[in-house]
Amino acid sequence: MAGTKCIITGVPGVGKTTVITEALTRLEQMGVPYANISFGSFMFEMAQRQGLVANRDKMRLLSKDDQRLLQEQAAEGIARIDGNVIIDTHASVKTPKGYLAGLPEWVLEALKPDLFVLIETDEDQILGRRFCDPSRVRDLDTFRALQSHQSFNRAIAAAYAMKTGCTVAIVTNADHLLERATGDLVGLLT
Ligand code: AP5
Repeated sequence: MAGTKCIITGVPGVGKTTVITEALTRLEQMGVPYANISFGSFMFEMAQRQGLVANRDKMRLLSKDDQRLLQEQAAEGIARIDGNVIIDTHASVKTPKGYLAGLPEWVLEALKPDLFVLIETDEDQILGRRFCDPSRVRDLDTFRALQSHQSFNRAIAAAYAMKTGCTVAIVTNADHLLERATGDLVGLLT
C-alpha cells in the first residue's frame, strides 16, 4: 500500500507536535488514519543505544558526522513504514556550526515525501512558548535569530520541493488558534 507521506516541520516550540496530535485525533474520527513517526525519537533511540547522548535536546550539539549517521539510520527505518505516514521532524537544525539540513539528499531519497508542511507563527509567540515549557532545554533565541531560522526553513523547503516534486504548504499555529491550525492540516491530509 503506497499511502501519503507527509513531512511536518517547524522551529522548536512552534507547536508542531501539538498540532499533529490534534490533527491525528480528527483524522482517526474521519476514518483516515495516519501513522505518526517522530524522526527525532528515532534518532534519539539510536543515539542512546550508541551511548552518544542521554538527552534529546543534546542531539543538535553532536558532531555533524554523528548527526548525519543518525539521520541516515532513522530514514532507513522510517522508509520501511507503509500507508499514510506523518513524519514529525525539522527542515533544518540549528547547531553550533550553523544550520544542518534536516532532510539532506539521502534522507529525501529514502522518504520520498508527497507533501511538506511548515508550521509557523510569529516569533514573539514562539519565544513565549519556549519560555513557558519547563519540560525541555530549549535555545534562548532572539526574535531576529528565530526570524532568520523560519526564513531559512522556507528556503530549504523550496529546495526539498525541487528535489522531490513534493508540494509545500504553510500552516500558521497562532496563539489561541490551535483549532484553525489543526483544521488546515487536516485539510491538507484528506
Ligand atoms: P523533535 O523530536 O522534533 O522535538 P519536539 O519536541 O518533538 O519538537 P519541538 O522541540 O520542535 O517542539 P514543537 O514545535 O513540537 O512544540 P510543542 O508541540 O511541544 O526533535 C528533537 C531533536 O531531534 C531535535 O532537536 C534534533 O536534534 C533532532 N532531529 C529531529 N529531526 C531531525 C532531522 N531531520 N535531522 C537532524 N536532527 C533531527 O509545543 C510547544 C509549546 O507550545 C507547548 O507548551 C504547547 O502547549 C504550546 N502551544 C502549541 N500550540 C499552541 C497554540 N496554538 N497556542 C498556544 N500555545 C501553543
